Amino acid sequence: MSIHMHGIVIGSLLASPLAGFLQCDSVQPEDEPELVTETGVSAEFAADETPEVPLELLFDGEVPTARSLNLRELSLKQLGKFVFFDKISVPAKKQGCISCHDPAAGWTFPDTKINKAQVAAPGAAKGAVGTIRPPSNAYARNIPLQPGCGPLALPCGGLFWDGRAEGNVGPLFGGATTHIGAEVFKNSAPLEDLFADFLGPVADQALQPFPNPLEQNISQKAVCTHVSKSVYALLYRVAWGEKIDCTNAGFALSFKRIAVALAAWQASDEVNQFSSKRDKALAAEVKLEGVNVAFPLKGLTAQENLGHELFYGRAGCAVCHSNEPLAVFPDPNRAGLDPDELYTDAVFHNIGVPRNAKIPGPDGSPGLGARPLVIVDPDDDPTVRLGQHKTPTLRNVDKRPSKSFVKAYTHNGWFKSLESLVHFYNTADVDGTTAAAFGVTRCDPAKTDWTEAEALAAKCWPEPEEQGTLAIGFVIGDLGLTLTEEAAIVAYLKTLTDTKTVKPPPLLQ
Ligand code: HEC
Ligand code: HEC
Repeated sequence: MSIHMHGIVIGSLLASPLAGFLQCDSVQPEDEPELVTETGVSAEFAADETPEVPLELLFDGEVPTARSLNLRELSLKQLGKFVFFDKISVPAKKQGCISCHDPAAGWTFPDTKINKAQVAAPGAAKGAVGTIRPPSNAYARNIPLQPGCGPLALPCGGLFWDGRAEGNVGPLFGGATTHIGAEVFKNSAPLEDLFADFLGPVADQALQPFPNPLEQNISQKAVCTHVSKSVYALLYRVAWGEKIDCTNAGFALSFKRIAVALAAWQASDEVNQFSSKRDKALAAEVKLEGVNVAFPLKGLTAQENLGHELFYGRAGCAVCHSNEPLAVFPDPNRAGLDPDELYTDAVFHNIGVPRNAKIPGPDGSPGLGARPLVIVDPDDDPTVRLGQHKTPTLRNVDKRPSKSFVKAYTHNGWFKSLESLVHFYNTADVDGTTAAAFGVTRCDPAKTDWTEAEALAAKCWPEPEEQGTLAIGFVIGDLGLTLTEEAAIVAYLKTLTDTKTVKPPPLLQ
């Protein structure tokens, strides 16, 4: 696709149903040149030398028509999709968002060997390796980091395991990322009306992976230039109403606009499908029962329905894995009925995950080591929050490209299966009665590099990596579940797998 297709673009745009729409594009900012005018193509547009393909060919799913009132928004999302799947890195073509967030692996890391051992993702540059496990970027809730959520006023929101991608708010603590603000609209009220919703933490987050030497390792300016020369550059122009500006004066803003595009796509229905077995069974039941809908659902097996009942009931999972922070449900069969359930409170907890000695530590020592996490209140004692991580969504937690593919769970990927993690929730309190019934004890602390396989074989749990505000002994760790009940919870988690897998745009393949 590197041939100059400029003539074709112009011809095609004018001949296509889109041409009429672009002419009367009601959201065209007033003082910007029209892309296509009544007399033909604007001088600014014609002077552009970028090789491009016709706009219609850049849409692989929802092809906009002249009636698409939101052509700009569709183009912004589609731009984000291209950038997500494109490998934009130094060295070239090594790494893109897709390299660490593969839809086929539930938007997480797609390499079974690395998931089994080191867990942290390698970067584009030789020898570079990350320090923590890539979480799912789908269903990443767009709530800014907030100091107080729910009845207990716990800090919540933001993106990353520690919430440091805060969104478009004043920085709450020192580790905050660079925010994106209204400057991307250049005082265009129509653009602001259209795109303001995308300026949350997901856009904030998208600024990070490109320049990170442990990730895509490429400068903002080089990202801008890459997009300006790509087959999909036209999408930028249609979305933002002007050509991408990669001059020294312009690239920083263009880079932010690319991040907004990534946020827009990550907010789309294509990424957040709500197409799992649970979603379908629930929707079918709502059709039949209307407001009287309740579990058990006819579309789920008896085992899956039992899993739901335990999840929202006795096992207490929904205390954290539910949209309502610290929600307590008196009747589990009337809970979990929200079609938009994301299975996370977006609050930070320490569930007591053991150290993963296979992750290279900051000072070369094995394991993550002490990692200060969100401090939203400057008066907070920073050590109190050690070990706290944002509750991850459980949507797609079992999605994997094949049955034998190993996924790594929790922030450091110490857990390799849902079965063992649920067993951990059940028995992690080694002084509790459930652990005693199963014969589970504390692993020998003299050995500091226990793997999950070794611990399971020895029927023990290693010390949590961090002791600060441990949830073990409080809501988790002594659940009194039988093995049959553990298996039912796992079966329920498996109903949260989306049924469609997003594919890269054909033009990138
Ligand atoms: C080298 C692997 C890698 C690449 C490339 C990468 N990510 Fe990530 N991503 C991660 C890791 C690791 C984290 C967690 C980091 C942390 O919490 O400190 C993460 C976190 C995220 C999150 C936050 C999810 C949440 O719930 O908090 C989003 C969203 C995301 N990435 C999107 C992207 C986008 C968009 C790109 C491309 C611009 C990208 N990532 C590129 C590894 C990667
Ligand atoms: C106290 C809040 C809390 C409770 C209760 C809780 N979880 Fe979690 N869950 C978390 C947090 C926080 C993490 C991430 C911990 C980390 O990475 O250190 C997590 C991680 C997970 C993961 C791994 C997801 C991933 O992508 O890595 C699964 C699966 C899970 N929980 C399922 C459950 C189930 C099933 C229950 C009930 C038996 C439960 N949780 C109870 C807070 C909780």
